[in-house]
Amino acid sequence: FLISHVKMSFSEQLVTRVFGYKSNNNERIINDALSQKHLKGHGLQIMTEAMMGHLQNLMLHDFGSAAKQKTWTEDGLFNYCYNIVFRAGYLALYGNTTSKTEGNEEKAKAKDRIESEALFHEFRKYDQLFPNLAYGVLPPGGRKEAFRLMRYFWDALSITKMRSKDNISGWIWNMYNIRREEGRPESMIDRYMFVLLWASQGNTGPSSFWLLLYLMKDPVAMEALRKEVDMVLKGSGQEVCPDGPPVNLTYEMLMKTPVLDSAVEETLRLVAAPILTRSVLQDMTLKMADGREFFIRKGDRMSVFPYVAIHVDPEIHPDPYTFKYDRFLTPEGTKKTDFYKRGKRVKYYTMPWGSGVSMCPGRFFATNELKQFIFLMLVYFDFELINPDEKIPQIDYRRWGFGTMHPDREVKFRYKFRY
Ligand code: HEM
Ligand SMILES: *[C@@H]1O[C@H](CO)[C@@H](O)[C@H](O)[C@H]1NC(C)=O
Ligand SMILES: *[C@@H]1O[C@H](CO)[C@@H](O)[C@H](O)[C@H]1NC(C)=O
Ligand SMILES: *[C@@H]1O[C@H](CO)[C@@H](O)[C@H](O)[C@H]1NC(C)=O
Repeated sequence: FLISHVKMSFSEQLVTRVFGYKSNNNERIINDALSQKHLKGHGLQIMTEAMMGHLQNLMLHDFGSAAKQKTWTEDGLFNYCYNIVFRAGYLALYGNTTSKTEGNEEKAKAKDRIESEALFHEFRKYDQLFPNLAYGVLPPGGRKEAFRLMRYFWDALSITKMRSKDNISGWIWNMYNIRREEGRPESMIDRYMFVLLWASQGNTGPSSFWLLLYLMKDPVAMEALRKEVDMVLKGSGQEVCPDGPPVNLTYEMLMKTPVLDSAVEETLRLVAAPILTRSVLQDMTLKMADGREFFIRKGDRMSVFPYVAIHVDPEIHPDPYTFKYDRFLTPEGTKKTDFYKRGKRVKYYTMPWGSGVSMCPGRFFATNELKQFIFLMLVYFDFELINPDEKIPQIDYRRWGFGTMHPDREVKFRYKFRY
């Protein structure tokens, strides 16, 4: 399908209501050139390496000691995944504590762990208010709490606070500078930083939850992925050892995982359900693949919901509600890109990132974040559901349209170091 080509005023209204951020006339929320520079190519590599360091800090900081005890830790799977992926991504984008003020690196890392935990805790509160806030139906108590949280984030992400951090990503740093050069007041830029936090951290954590859950429900998939990561690790000449340095999962290693790539794509097919809305700038006729035509008037607003239209279309993806880790693999084990509907090849066979001008600029980084987290889980941990007969939860339908879905309930699991 065809969509017109300008950011809609609807989304600007939404951004104002939900984040308190007012854009300038005609300002795109996102600058394409900058996203190109920092979220692709070399910039992407730098961010991916930073992400790795922070994942190691959050997941492996007590590896040496806990490994000896080999005890299981119980947690909610959704909370566990969202927590780690959110915090590591936040540190990679917004910078980490400098060892200069803390005295040494270990202390700086400990402070990063504590501060990012507090931030995540507040973020989850906001997250839960978000659907009703977006629909404009929060009762007064909820609105008050939402505003308190907004103010918390404007402050926590403010440029004043950020100045004390090291290694702020080029993406965030340049976004800040561009707005400043445009003459936007600092208070508005602080709000903009919250918009970016939301866009960058709200989806990857929940996606990683689903992927781990699907793996725990599917031993064959789990085995295939373990085999792949073990092979990549061996191929790099490394092994996990409790007293040595953590595994250095490099960018190159991440590029050699077709099975994991397929599992990620399959997960997003099942749980990424954005609604893509555009305003119609001129009268036009929309031609559908099946031959139907729709006349659309200038001023109309049009939405596409690829989840129903594509992701779970049984003609494109047979048995669409089942997780098949190898759905996006060819028999030769490479990436599969040909999907058909009534004999015709389908150009868009999944659209978790949207499309066109506002297509998610963070998609490559998000994919890497997911892969890094899953890789470390598989290499370092044993993990299993507390209840082996656990059913896969329903999705929380209040979030239809807002990116990756959340489950309608938590799932208990336990994990321990493998070595
Ligand atoms: C699994 C994780 C993610 C999913 C499923 C996802 C999905 C999406 C979708 C569907 C859109 C809207 C596209 C449209 O309206 O056409 C979007 C926009 C956006 N995403 Fe992501 N995203 C993810 C992760 C990230 C990450 C990690 C970043 C940043 C590092 C990011 C940054 C953004 C930004 C800044 C926008 C707004 C673009 C604009 O309005 O021009 N996203 N994302
Ligand atoms: C902060 O992040 C950078 C870049 O990822 C990393 O090189 C550095 O070791 C980190 N510092 C601390 C104290 O974690
Ligand atoms: C992180 O920041 C410190 C201090 O500014 C710098 O020395 C170091 O090279 C940076 N590390 C990376 C990976 O950019
Ligand atoms: C990880 O490997 C990369 C590429 O081989 C190398 O540049 C980097 O210094 C290594 N990092 C550590 C912490 O060993």
